[in-house]
Amino acid sequence: MKKVFFALTTLALIVACTPKTAEVVEVVTVTTEETTEALVMRKPSVEESEGMTLYNAHCGKCHELKTISDYSMERWTKIVPNMASQAKLDATQESKIMAYVKWQLGK
Ligand code: HEC
Repeated sequence: MKKVFFALTTLALIVACTPKTAEVVEVVTVTTEETTEALVMRKPSVEESEGMTLYNAHCGKCHELKTISDYSMERWTKIVPNMASQAKLDATQESKIMAYVKWQLGK
């Protein structure tokens, strides 16, 4: 009888402990990913993230969405005003897109 009780207690312990261990491992993984991302790129400001939304909504209509890192900052200062008028965006929207481009290039 003692043996059976011991076996049941051991089983209960295993069942109780297994999911907890898995959870802990998961949390550690997520934290590591977030830290790595934060080191590579800072969080965008409100203006920059609004620019991202505008870019994704308006800049892939006539051609594929262009990869920002394919062009230099110097090129973008000419491209954005030109393309913003193609896309019929106003000055505020244009400057938000410019802010997003700068953020992407880490400027
Ligand atoms: C009304 C259509 C239209 C819209 C909207 C538009 N573009 Fe363009 N874009 C063009 C055309 C046409 C070209 C020249 C052909 C090409 O490179 O695909 C071009 C070219 C480009 C190029 C390449 C420039 C180069 O010198 O090689 C980039 C970068 C670009 N667009 C970015 C944007 C961005 C950013 C937006 C949003 C603000 C945008 N486009 C919206 C029509 C448009």
